[in-house]
Amino acid sequence: MNRYEHSTPLLHFCLFFFLLCPLVFSQLPSNQRTTMINILSEALINNTDLSWDVTTDPCSWNGVTCSPGNLSITEISLSGFSLSSSDFLPLLCQIDSLVSLDLSNNSLASIPDGFITDCGKIGGLQLLTISRNRLDGPLPTFHGFVGLQFLDLSFNSLSGNISLQLEGLVALKSLNLSVNLFNGLIPTNLGKAMALEQLQLSKNSFQGGIPDQIIDYQNLTLVDFSANHLSGPVPDRIGDLSKLEVLILSANVFSGKIPETLSSIKSLSRFAAYQNKFEGTIPSGLTRFLKNLDLTYNKLTGSIPSDMLAPSNLQTVDLSYNLLTGPVPPNISPSMVRLRLGSNSLNGTIPSTFGTLEKLMYLELENNSLTGSVPPELGSCRNLMLLNLAGNKLNGALPGQLGGLSQLQVMKLQSNKLVGEIPVEIIQLQKLLTLNISWNSLNGSIPSTISSLQSLTYLHLQNNNLSGPIAPTIVNMDSLLELQLGGNQLSGKIPSMPVKLQIALNLSTNLLVGPIPKRLLQLTALEVLDLSNNSLSGEIPTGLTQMASLTKLLLSNNQLSGIIPKSNSWLTFDANGNKDLINTTTSNSTSPKSAKKRKSVTVASVIGFAVGMGIGLAISNNFYKILCSLHKKLCNHGRD
Ligand SMILES: *[C@@H]1O[C@H](CO)[C@@H](O)[C@H](O)[C@H]1NC(C)=O
Ligand SMILES: *[C@@H]1O[C@H](CO)[C@@H](O)[C@H](O)[C@H]1NC(C)=O
Ligand SMILES: *[C@@H]1O[C@H](CO)[C@@H](O)[C@H](O)[C@H]1NC(C)=O
Ligand SMILES: *[C@@H]1O[C@H](CO)[C@@H](O)[C@H](O)[C@H]1NC(C)=O
Ligand SMILES: *[C@@H]1O[C@H](CO)[C@@H](O)[C@H](O)[C@H]1NC(C)=O
Ligand SMILES: *[C@@H]1O[C@H](CO)[C@@H](O)[C@H](O)[C@H]1NC(C)=O
Ligand SMILES: *[C@@H]1O[C@H](CO)[C@@H](O)[C@H](O)[C@H]1NC(C)=O
Repeated sequence: MNRYEHSTPLLHFCLFFFLLCPLVFSQLPSNQRTTMINILSEALINNTDLSWDVTTDPCSWNGVTCSPGNLSITEISLSGFSLSSSDFLPLLCQIDSLVSLDLSNNSLASIPDGFITDCGKIGGLQLLTISRNRLDGPLPTFHGFVGLQFLDLSFNSLSGNISLQLEGLVALKSLNLSVNLFNGLIPTNLGKAMALEQLQLSKNSFQGGIPDQIIDYQNLTLVDFSANHLSGPVPDRIGDLSKLEVLILSANVFSGKIPETLSSIKSLSRFAAYQNKFEGTIPSGLTRFLKNLDLTYNKLTGSIPSDMLAPSNLQTVDLSYNLLTGPVPPNISPSMVRLRLGSNSLNGTIPSTFGTLEKLMYLELENNSLTGSVPPELGSCRNLMLLNLAGNKLNGALPGQLGGLSQLQVMKLQSNKLVGEIPVEIIQLQKLLTLNISWNSLNGSIPSTISSLQSLTYLHLQNNNLSGPIAPTIVNMDSLLELQLGGNQLSGKIPSMPVKLQIALNLSTNLLVGPIPKRLLQLTALEVLDLSNNSLSGEIPTGLTQMASLTKLLLSNNQLSGIIPKSNSWLTFDANGNKDLINTTTSNSTSPKSAKKRKSVTVASVIGFAVGMGIGLAISNNFYKILCSLHKKLCNHGRD
């Protein structure tokens, strides 16, 4: 490719006297070549992200695309080149063959007037993106730009109203102003030719209602107004946007009913309106053409229309946190992947038809008033990863068929009225991370084989009527971080516990006997240990009250004896209700010695961690500051 040997002198010669080196390049017109070298020397010469080599054809430079035959430059992408000065931007406009200009992911703070004037004259420029920069102040008025189809100024700090600044963009098809500080009304003058197809205004401070004029943009396929301060009802005429595919109104203060006219838009596949103040009933037919519906956190009432979950395109439906009543409709789309109906007032039973849903991954019906039993058919949902039926009035036994949920990671059935024993089939749920069946009326013993659930991290069986001993195999549950077994009738001695337990070990309010095992001292990460309300006897093991991570130790209401050992100052320690236990502490003042000790241990471990991470040798300013803010004394020398 190189017709000339590269040499440092030639490079410098060409860089400063580029006009004298014309033959180095191919057909690219000399004015474009000149411009590119100007841009390089004026703005980008010190840019280490760039590998532009002045001795080669600019068509070969990264970020530069030329027309077939290299007759002209058509695209320039300076995305992520750490640009902070906008001064050179007008230079780019000298490339009058530009079709696409991408300046995203830099630190540009302004758009110079010269850029608007000069680039506005490039009739062929179709795409301009300056997203993810530091633009601030008002939106400039775009003169010219008659061919501009895509304008992306998202992720900046532009502010103020938008009135007529974009009116001249006759070819505009896609406008993205998301994540800025714009306010005022939704702009309606977005190109006289009404060609707009995509309008993204999310995460600004736009207010007022949806203007009727928006509906005159009949080619709209995507409208995203989420996360603004928009209010009022959504106009019924929105149903006239017959090409609409995605409508996102979430996180505003829209009120009134969900317009029934939406159900007539055949192309609409996604409608999201979560976190608004929509009220009234959900119009039947809304999901006729939809794939994804999200109406979470509104004030919708009435029952779920009986055919609403049925259309076979439907993949996700989120209606949680509304005021819905009535039953869960049994007729459900075979394409359903996620169904969330939690925190409503639904009643009736869980339809057995769920069993036919092969694609279902997330089923959440929690915090309703569902009755009846957990249908055994649910066990056929082979792809189910999350099952949340907590906080209902479900009764009957847990069906062993649930063992068929081989992909299940989270099972939450707590706070129901389930009875009978924990089915042994539970051990088939080999991917389970969370099992919460607390606050039911389960009886029998905890299957000792439960320890084969090697991924299980959270095990909540508290407040049931479980009896018998805690099987010694529990020590093998290597992933367990939290074990809640309180409020049962568990008996026997406390076995060895998994050493990784961290969040809590709670065995309170059971019938446990024998001593507090010394082996609990091996749980060096444990933060909460509650053994209260049992019949434990013997002395409190030396060191238990000094465990490094322990913040709460509850031993009250047992039959412990001996002397209460000194405890760490940060420990909440309760040993009341042990009549043979002698409390030698007369005042409840905390020992300053132990407080000091804790602090230096923490500093030492922070530094140890830093060294371990390989940053100990070159402690960065930030790290130093963080350390200082944690431990002011460390940094008092010379830094203040
Ligand atoms: C490049 O760096 C040199 C030396 O630091 C400086 O004098 C010059 O102004 C810089 N040029 C540009 C275009 O930033
Ligand atoms: C255009 O320029 C590129 C990069 O220098 C080069 O690889 C390609 O061969 C050139 N094409 C023509 C037709 O000259
Ligand atoms: C389990 O359910 C109980 C009772 O509702 C709740 O307090 C706890 O946070 C739940 N834990 C997990 C891990 O789901
Ligand atoms: C568990 O409770 C059921 C009634 O709900 C009872 O029939 C059964 O005998 C109990 N089992 C045990 C082991 O207590
Ligand atoms: C719990 O089981 C005991 C027997 O083990 C029984 O006497 C008691 O009634 C049961 N309580 C509940 C709420 O089921
Ligand atoms: C331990 O579990 C019991 C029964 O669920 C509960 O009442 C108690 O608050 C728990 N202890 C701690 C420290 O959370
Ligand atoms: C011991 O007695 C002191 C003073 O009455 C009291 O503050 C402290 O809570 C008691 N310790 C325990 C572990 O109960």
